Formats: sequence, structure tokens, C-alpha cells
Amino acid sequence: MSKNIQVEENGGGKSISEALKRFKRSRLVFEPSLGVLGFFLVGVCMVWSFFYFDYRSMAKSYGLSDKSERFVWLKLDNNNNKSMSSKRVGFLEESGNDCDVFDGDWVWDESYPLYQSKDCRFLDEGFRCSDFGRSDLFYTHWRWQPRLCNLPRFDAKVMLEKLRDKRLVFVGDSIGRNQWESLLCLLSSAVKNESSVYEVNGSPITKHRGFLVFKFVDYNCTVEYYRSPFLVPQSRPPPGSPGKVKTTLKLEHMDWTSSKWRDADVLVLNTGHWWNYGKTVRTGCYFQEGEEVKLKMSVDDAYKRAMETVVNWIQTEVDSNKTQVFFRTFAPVHFRGGDWKTGGTCHMETLPEIGTSLASSESWEQLKIIRHVLSGYSNKSETVKMKVLNITAMAAQRKDGHPSIYYLGSVGPAPLHRQDCSHWCLPGVPDTWNELLYALFMKQEASSSSSSGRVEEVKSTSNVTMS
Ligand SMILES: *[C@@H]1O[C@H](CO)[C@@H](O)[C@H](O)[C@H]1NC(C)=O
Ligand SMILES: *[C@@H]1O[C@H](CO)[C@@H](O)[C@H](O)[C@H]1NC(C)=O
Ligand SMILES: *[C@@H]1O[C@H](CO)[C@@H](O)[C@H](O)[C@H]1NC(C)=O
Ligand SMILES: *[C@@H]1O[C@H](CO)[C@@H](O)[C@H](O)[C@H]1NC(C)=O
Ligand SMILES: *[C@@H]1O[C@H](CO)[C@@H](O)[C@H](O)[C@H]1NC(C)=O
Ligand SMILES: *[C@@H]1O[C@H](CO)[C@@H](O)[C@H](O)[C@H]1NC(C)=O
Ligand SMILES: *[C@@H]1O[C@H](CO)[C@@H](O)[C@H](O)[C@H]1NC(C)=O
Repeated sequence: MSKNIQVEENGGGKSISEALKRFKRSRLVFEPSLGVLGFFLVGVCMVWSFFYFDYRSMAKSYGLSDKSERFVWLKLDNNNNKSMSSKRVGFLEESGNDCDVFDGDWVWDESYPLYQSKDCRFLDEGFRCSDFGRSDLFYTHWRWQPRLCNLPRFDAKVMLEKLRDKRLVFVGDSIGRNQWESLLCLLSSAVKNESSVYEVNGSPITKHRGFLVFKFVDYNCTVEYYRSPFLVPQSRPPPGSPGKVKTTLKLEHMDWTSSKWRDADVLVLNTGHWWNYGKTVRTGCYFQEGEEVKLKMSVDDAYKRAMETVVNWIQTEVDSNKTQVFFRTFAPVHFRGGDWKTGGTCHMETLPEIGTSLASSESWEQLKIIRHVLSGYSNKSETVKMKVLNITAMAAQRKDGHPSIYYLGSVGPAPLHRQDCSHWCLPGVPDTWNELLYALFMKQEASSSSSSGRVEEVKSTSNVTMS
């Protein structure tokens, strides 16, 4: 059945409800043989009747309302409340100023995804899950719904127009590249002439090292990615260090490449997945302050020091009149029964986790540290010139969003004990981070163009950031 859905999806955008309708028909045909096939089919039907049942309630509201009505799934308290949803204001309206867009729920929406992976040439194979074997497409149909307001629908043309003559730069680890590729797909969906979007040095999109700069010629804007998994530089240890020290992270400095992106118009930073024992101390990478290698410093303390460096750099080195800075928080991983090295899996996940969250404790630890670092500034007259894309909680619910065994591209599925439950399939969860980036960016643009309301607006935005 899931094959059916994929065929329909690929073959011209028929909705998933069509597929479910078809399923309903075929289930009737299959029913007499149920007893014969026994538990196997019962299991399959249980999974499917879950969708079918839900489809019925969807279809009911479908009949009563027009196509733009959005469906609510799994009876989410606030979202299922009609009077609540009609009361929601638009985030870009002035009444939306106090809305925390990161507080919300995933809702089923058949108008998603916003693009198809086959239409986007900027995706690396590692994220093209459905092109390379993943057959369930439910993970592409979820929309993020803030509890108290509505997000503006992503409009690539509007965003490109706002980015005219500008640079938008992502800096961080491969999850940052994941989000960058998502934005390239979202934006390029509005550009007809394929050859008018290209990498300025002709470099292919690859997994590692360096940077990539994509130009949208018609808008004279670039969307760039710089790899910097720690945001602080990793370099040779000072002379005389113990032999076990192979490299150090200089916690008091910003990555040396920062001079290349400091003057960007929009800067989206992230770091997180490399701040653990396995990727630092175990590999001989220790932490350094001044000339001193801190052999005993914990990873959490080092992360905190690095975040202080980043925030301080933003305060002192970035021209806040020119550059909007965003920091995206940790995106949780979802390995079950192990980690990436010890056979942890996520390939059976096809639905989000509603309510409880399975995020590992490291996600929340990092959030706490960021919150702590930022709260150090709330006492000063100066506010932090950075907005937090606080996506940890929302992404924690999306255990269904990872490539699992479908990250090797044309090579075929990976062995079950070698899964990728860290990165995200595209289209998928990172598209939502970009919708939120879009919303915050548009909000800022709106406030800086209405000069009278500017001071007021900036203040209340920074409150949102700090809380
Ligand atoms: C729906 O929301 C309204 C307004 O917030 C509230 O008064 C009402 O109790 C809610 N109803 C349910 C069933 O939650
Ligand atoms: C393109 O944008 C850059 C800034 O990123 C600007 O310096 C340059 O003048 C623009 N070129 C044109 C032709 O407008
Ligand atoms: C497409 O873009 C390329 C590169 O900017 C340009 O040379 C070409 O003339 C464009 N083609 C059309 C049909 O606009
Ligand atoms: C930003 O712009 C304002 C008003 O144009 C100006 O007063 C202020 O000095 C500028 N700040 C910086 C850091 O350039
Ligand atoms: C991010 O959101 C979580 C809950 O969703 C909250 O506990 C945390 O304080 C927020 N962090 C920041 C830095 O805003
Ligand atoms: C905040 O500032 C006040 C007065 O300047 C000071 O007494 C207080 O200790 C500061 N609090 C923190 C957490 O730094
Ligand atoms: C923003 O912060 C100021 C001062 O810290 C406070 O007076 C105001 O009530 C806050 N506004 C919101 C919307 O939280």
C-alpha cells in the first residue's frame, strides 16, 4: 500500500486522501482472506486502520469546509478547538508580537510538502530519502502550528525580493547544511530559469569541508554555507602539550573563517552535534583557553565557554544595523537501542511523537546552557542582538523525520545497524525551521521598514528571544 501512495505522490501530486480512499476499497477486497493470513494481516490492518479511522474524521471536516481548511490530527487539545484556532492572529500582525512561534503542535496538512525532492537539484543523496527507497511519505505532510498565532505561508518570491543584493549565510555542522539545502530548494522553487541559480565556484554540493556559495542571479543574492561544526577554531595544540593532545578547540576565538561571513545580511548559526566526548576528548581534541590546554574541562563547560564567545562576538563584531543573526538550537537525534555506532535505529518510525518527547538529555542540557549564557545579558542595558531559532522541542517530536537506512543514495539501503537518525529527510523537518526563519525575518523586515514603530518593535522581539 505504501508503494501505492508513493506512486500517486510522484505521479502528479494526487493527495494522500486519494490514496487512503483507494486503500479503503482494497481493504474491503482483502477482508475475506484476513482469517487465512492471520496475524500478519491483522498487524498490517491495525496500522492502516489507524490512518483510515483518522481519514474518516478528516473527510468529515473536509466535506463541511473548503479546501483551505487545515486538518488537525490526533485530537491535539488546543488545535482541535475551533474557537481557539479562529482566534489566532497572524504572527506578522502587530497583535502577533507576543506569540512564541516555537510553542505549538505538528498538524496534518495535505498542502505540504512545499516542494518535491525530484524537483530540487541541490539536495545531496543523503537527504533524498523517498528517492532512494523510503516508501512512507507521511513525514512530509506535517505543518508546524504555533499555539497562539498563524505563521505566514512561505513565499519564495517574497523572500527572494527581500534578499535582493544580500547575502544569507548558514554556518555550522552538517545539520546546518541540511537546513541550508532545504532553503535552496524552497527558494529555487520560485525560479524558472535553472541556470540562473549556481554555485559561484562551480563546486558540487558535497558532505565535507569548506564552503559553498549559491547565487540567485535574478536577485543578485547569495545563499551560502560554511562548515564550522564548533563555531570556534580547531587547531594544533600549543608546543609542549602532552602527547595525547592531538588538537585543541580555542574557546575564546571565533572560527577563523568568520571574517568571510561577519558582514552577511542574514546569519544563521548552529553548533551542537560535535560537542560530546566522542567527537572531542576521545579523539584527542582538548579545550584551550589562552595558551593553556584545559585537560580536565568538561564538554559542557567548554560548550558554555564557546557559546559565550559566540554571543560576545555577535555583540561586538557584528553590525546589528546590517546583519540579522539567528542561532538555531540543537536538533535532537532519535537513535533507539543504541547510538549511531552501536546499531541504534529509527527506520520503523513513520509518525511523530505527540506529547512526550524522546529527546536525549544532551539536547536539553545544551538548551539550558544557551539560556544561561543569554540570561547573562538580560541584566545589561544592551539586549542580545541575536534571535534564537528554538527548534529543539518541536524537532524532538519528529522521530519519523530521519533518513534511517535511506542515506546512501543509489547504492541502496544501508544495513540496519548503520542508521542515520541525526540528519533529516528533505522535504521534511528542516523546511519548518526555514518557515520559522522566514517568519522572523519578515517580522524584522516589517518592523524596520515602518520607522516609527521601530524601537518598540525591536524591544519586544528581543523579549521573545530571551524568554
Ligand atoms: C476552546 O477555546 C476557548 C477559548 O480559548 C475556551 O474558552 C474553551 O474552553 C475551549 N474549549 C475546549 C473544548 O477546549
Ligand atoms: C549585488 O549585491 C552586492 C551586495 O551583495 C552589491 O555590492 C552589488 O552592487 C550588487 N550588484 C548589482 C548589479 O546590483
Ligand atoms: C538563464 O540564466 C542564465 C544565467 O544567468 C542566462 O545566461 C540566460 O540568458 C537565462 N535564460 C533565460 C531564458 O532567461
Ligand atoms: C545603527 O543605526 C543608527 C541609526 O541609523 C545609528 O545611530 C547607530 O550608530 C548605528 N549603529 C551602528 C553600530 O552602526
Ligand atoms: C526553548 O524552548 C523551550 C521549551 O520549548 C524552553 O524551555 C527554553 O527555555 C527555550 N530556550 C530559549 C533559549 O529560548
Ligand atoms: C544584575 O545587576 C544588578 C545591579 O546592576 C546586580 O546587583 C545583580 O547582581 C546582577 N545580576 C546578575 C545575575 O548578574
Ligand atoms: C519586555 O521587557 C521589558 C523590560 O524587561 C518589560 O517591561 C516588558 O513587559 C517586556 N515585554 C514583554 C512583551 O514581555
